[in-house]
Amino acid sequence: MTHYGVGVIITLLALGFSQANGNIFERTFKKLHEEPYVPTNQNRADEVQTLWIEQKLDHFNDSETRTWQMRYLLNDVFFKAGGPMFIYLGGEWAISKGRISEGHMYDMAKEHNGLLAYTEHRYYGESHPLPDLSNDSLQFLHVKQALADLAHFIKTQKASYKGLSDSKVIIVGGSYSAAMVTWFKRTYPDLVAGGWASSAPLFAKVDFVEYKEIAGQSIVLMGGSDCYNRIQKGIAEMEAMFANKRGSEVKALLKLCEPFDVYSDLDVWNLFSEISDIFSGVVQTHNTGQIEGVCQKIMAEGSDLVGLSKFLLSEFGESTSKCNDLSYNAMIDTLSDTRYSGSVRRQWLFQTCNEYGWYQTSGSASQPFGTKFPVTFYTTMCADLYGPQFSKSFIEARAAETNEYFGGLTPKVENVYFSHGQLDPWRAMGIQDEKQATIIPKHAHCADLGSISIDDTAEMRASKERVAELVREWL
Ligand SMILES: *[C@@H]1O[C@H](CO)[C@@H](O)[C@H](O)[C@H]1NC(C)=O
Ligand SMILES: *[C@@H]1O[C@H](CO)[C@@H](O)[C@H](O)[C@H]1NC(C)=O
Repeated sequence: MTHYGVGVIITLLALGFSQANGNIFERTFKKLHEEPYVPTNQNRADEVQTLWIEQKLDHFNDSETRTWQMRYLLNDVFFKAGGPMFIYLGGEWAISKGRISEGHMYDMAKEHNGLLAYTEHRYYGESHPLPDLSNDSLQFLHVKQALADLAHFIKTQKASYKGLSDSKVIIVGGSYSAAMVTWFKRTYPDLVAGGWASSAPLFAKVDFVEYKEIAGQSIVLMGGSDCYNRIQKGIAEMEAMFANKRGSEVKALLKLCEPFDVYSDLDVWNLFSEISDIFSGVVQTHNTGQIEGVCQKIMAEGSDLVGLSKFLLSEFGESTSKCNDLSYNAMIDTLSDTRYSGSVRRQWLFQTCNEYGWYQTSGSASQPFGTKFPVTFYTTMCADLYGPQFSKSFIEARAAETNEYFGGLTPKVENVYFSHGQLDPWRAMGIQDEKQATIIPKHAHCADLGSISIDDTAEMRASKERVAELVREWL
C-alpha cells in the first residue's frame, strides 16, 4: 500500500500544544491502510487517464436525486475491441496510476488485450459524494453503496466505451477491496466473470482478538522468540509501572506531552493501542528483512524496557525537542475534523463502527502486546466521534448484519480466487481452508499483487500462475 504524501491537518497546533508531534497515529494508520503496493513505472503511468463518472448519492432511495462525481482511472494501452475489462477496486485509500501501470493484473490485461480500470471508493481520495465528512454526511458511506457505484460504473462503461459492449469483466482487489470483490460477485454475479481477492477479510467481528495473536506468531517466525519475549516483557513492565503509580516514569521515557494523564484509562489505552499498532505496521507490511530488522534493533539494547522504548521513540518521530502527544483527546480532536484533509481515518473508522468492527484488541492472552487496549476503547471512540447511538451492542448488531447480508466466511460465490499471506494477521477474518484459498508462506498483507518475478518464492509464483490460469478459464 503506497504513500499518500498528502498534507495532514495537525489540529493539535490549533489547540496550542505547539510542541506536540501529532503525526504518530496518522503515520501508523497509513501504514496499515495504504493502497496495496506495487512497484510503479512512472513512464507507464503516463498512459493512464483520470476520468469522472456521475453517481447517485443514494442508490437505494428513489426520492434522493442528488448525484456526485466518482473518480476513476483508465489505461487502454493493450485494449482491442471485444477484449475484457480488468478493474482494480479502490478501497479505503486514494487511487493512484501505478496500480494499473504495472503488476500481475496489468500483465494479465496485456495477455488478453484488456482494458485496465481503477475505481475510487466513495468518500476516499477525490471521490466526495458530499462536501464534508460531518456525522450526517457520512450516512451515505457504506459498502453497499460503493458496490452499487461499481455496478453502475460497469454498466455505463459497457454501454458507452467503444468495443466493450460484449466484453467480460474481471475484478481484482486487495484487503478491504478484496472483500468488495467477493461481495460484488455475490451481489451482482452477472456483471463479472470472475475475481481475485488478495487478503480479503470477509467476517465482520467487533473484538478481533486474532489479529494480535497472528502478529505475535509472525514476530516469532521471522524475528525469533527472544524478540517476542522482549516485546512482551517490555510492555508488561510499562503496564506494571502505570499500575504502581510510576506512570510518570513511562511518560518521561516515551516523552509523552503534558496533556497525557497517567491515571486516565482512555489515555493509557490509547498509548498501548498505538504501541501495538506500530508493531502491526511492521508485520502487516513485512517484506524481506523488515521484521528481522526491527527485532535486531530491539535486541541490541541491554534491557527489555530500554530496547522497546528506544524503538518506540524512533517510530514516534525522532526528535529531542518535541514531545509525543498520545492523549486520547488529541486523537479525538484530529479525527473530529470534518474536512477532507488527505487523511482517511475519519471515514474508515466510521465504516468500522457502522459495518465491521475489526478492532484489533488486547483481548487474547496469546499475544505479546499486553492487556490495555480492550474493545471498550474502540467502541468508546465510535460513540465519541459519530454519536451516542454507536454503543457496543449497536456496533455488534451492525457487524452481525454485515455477516448476514454477505455470508461471512461462506459467501457462496463462484469464480473468486482467494489468496492470503501467512504472516498477515488479517487472514484470520478470511477464508483459510486450503481447498478454497491459497496461503502463501512467509508473506504479508497483499504481497502478491506484483508481476511474476524471479524473486518470487515457489509458492508465490504458483499462486500467481494459478490466478492467470483461472482468468484464462473465465474469459
Ligand atoms: C429518501 O430521500 C428523501 C429525499 O432526500 C428523504 O427525505 C428521505 O428521508 C429518504 N428516505 C430514507 C428512508 O432515507
Ligand atoms: C458528531 O457526533 C459527535 C459525537 O456525538 C459530536 O461530538 C460531534 O459534535 C458531531 N459532529 C458533527 C460535525 O456532526
